[in-house]
Amino acid sequence: MSKPRVFVTRVIPSAGLDRVLHACEADVWHGHLPPSHEILLEKASRCEGVLSLLTDKIDAALMDACPRLRVVSNYAVGFNNIDVDAATARGICVGNTPGVLTDATADIAFALLIAAARRVVEGHAYTLSGKWKTWEPMGHIGQDLQGKTLGIVGMGRIGYALAKRCVGGWGMKVLYNDLHRNDAAEDDLGAERVDLNRLLAESDFVSLHANLTDGTRGMFNAETFRKMKRTAVFVNTARGPLVDETALAEALHDGVIFAAGVDVTDPEPPHADNPLLKLHNCIIAPHIASATVHTRTAMSDIAADNLILGIEGKPLRHWVNPDVAAHRRKA
Ligand code: DGY
Repeated sequence: MSKPRVFVTRVIPSAGLDRVLHACEADVWHGHLPPSHEILLEKASRCEGVLSLLTDKIDAALMDACPRLRVVSNYAVGFNNIDVDAATARGICVGNTPGVLTDATADIAFALLIAAARRVVEGHAYTLSGKWKTWEPMGHIGQDLQGKTLGIVGMGRIGYALAKRCVGGWGMKVLYNDLHRNDAAEDDLGAERVDLNRLLAESDFVSLHANLTDGTRGMFNAETFRKMKRTAVFVNTARGPLVDETALAEALHDGVIFAAGVDVTDPEPPHADNPLLKLHNCIIAPHIASATVHTRTAMSDIAADNLILGIEGKPLRHWVNPDVAAHRRKA
């Protein structure tokens, strides 16, 4: 019996990729850059499964060009690159990789938070530039962390993991804003659920962990930054389009807030003329939150499971649209 055809849009760790290669007739894209949308469409059109990345736009038009497509397995916890409603309407299963990147992502949020507050990257650039001539009693002054207030916007797994680090490490008080109450955050960490205005006004550190939806796009904008403390540090490890970057750049430039650390931009990578690139008080990491050996290996394992289970007509290990089960496409 011939093996099912799948398209894997980039090389991922062998833990998952080897199993995909074993179970399927897999076309793997070996480019350093993602396939163009045209190539993705052309390759996917012959396949029953696609193992995609967050850089691959899987929209309704692409799905319409793929009559045999039964599963899209995203190598990411986020799935804003996929039109899930369109997939569900067409009987296509969608999988993602939650849970395994919680700690790695919280670690990067933690790193950006302290590095922005204590001006670590700026200091590194200062050293490299040869400007460091002596110990400076009035230079490089940053923000304290001990006993400060952390505001978490979107108290899911990653928000909780960051809050746990900040409570444990610096005895921070935690405020959070979320549609839902997070019992563990309240019981374990003493976190208080508040409206966004109060969170912005009272937090010394604001860390964004919301999903990107039509409702959250641009949720951090000029007005939001104006409501924050002038000493506040803003962190984003979620998705770039949650933030109006022009407004963030102005807020940082004009001293409306103290500093920012982001792992995500809009677009990625940022254009060369993005004003954030010129600011000394903005740290920009190249979307590396999940980039650890253990995390990426675990993500590849789940993504392979989701792909293979989807093709076999079984429930996915992490299923974004389980409501498709009753009418999923068959081979
Ligand atoms: C995700 O998984 O959504 C991250 O942004 C990349 O690992």
